[in-house]
Amino acid sequence: MPIIELSGICKVYRTKEIETTALDNINMSVEKGEFVSVMGPSGCGKSTLLNITGLLDRPTAGTVRLLDRDCNGLSDTALSHFRNENIGFVFQSFHLIPSLSVEDNVELPLDYRNGLSGADRRRRVDEVLERLGLSHRKKHMPSQLSGGQCQRVAIARAIVGRPSIILADEPTGNLDSRMGAEVMDLLHDLNTTDGITIVMVTHNELQAKQTDRIVRFFDGRIIS
Ligand SMILES: Nc1ncnc2c1ncn2[C@@H]1O[C@H](COP(=O)(O)OP(=O)(O)OP(=O)(O)O)[C@@H](O)[C@H]1O
Ligand SMILES: [Mg+2]
Repeated sequence: MPIIELSGICKVYRTKEIETTALDNINMSVEKGEFVSVMGPSGCGKSTLLNITGLLDRPTAGTVRLLDRDCNGLSDTALSHFRNENIGFVFQSFHLIPSLSVEDNVELPLDYRNGLSGADRRRRVDEVLERLGLSHRKKHMPSQLSGGQCQRVAIARAIVGRPSIILADEPTGNLDSRMGAEVMDLLHDLNTTDGITIVMVTHNELQAKQTDRIVRFFDGRIIS
């Protein structure tokens, strides 16, 4: 049973003068526990695909099913809840909030969870920071961290809500090779130890070869 199922996905961006078809009839499914790489040249629609899969954006046509649930019919509020509980995002430029400490950044997704007390939330944050080797940095601000540390904080934030899916858009794109390798080790560990399904956009063939499968895009279509 696929955990992600995209059928006939099209995305057309319209501005006053131009119409851009970013995704052109994409059919793609990902099994639970898979680690899939998405590759392709700049502008071919990879980030658009991730945003639509992660319910950050709606397709122009086609259906998104996640965890065997049709997401098209959900209201914006229901989409946010579903996303918050099931999906963790990791971006190339980390997207940490500069005015919040490491621990407050990581706690953010739990703000929207009912039924978790303040103590529960802090315990979860501490567990995740410990696992990622960031406990000694929890009072730091993002500006006081290295790029690799920032990305580990972003991954902590992505997993603190215990999602079943991680969507990562060039997660090592801003890191040197050593820090990039650390982040990749971490993603592989989350995949094998925790069984989290991962879809990762990357321009790095070596990284892609270490995942279960590579989906190649060109001009809004899957070519292999
Ligand atoms: N908000 C938008 N409005 C108009 N066009 C957009 C918008 N977002 C993306 N596009 C266009 O859609 C196409 C796909 O963009 P997308 O960001 O998905 O590419 P990408 O494969 O992630 O590229 P890169 O490797 O450079 O990150 C591009 O032609 C882009 O210009
Ligand atoms: Mg992109």
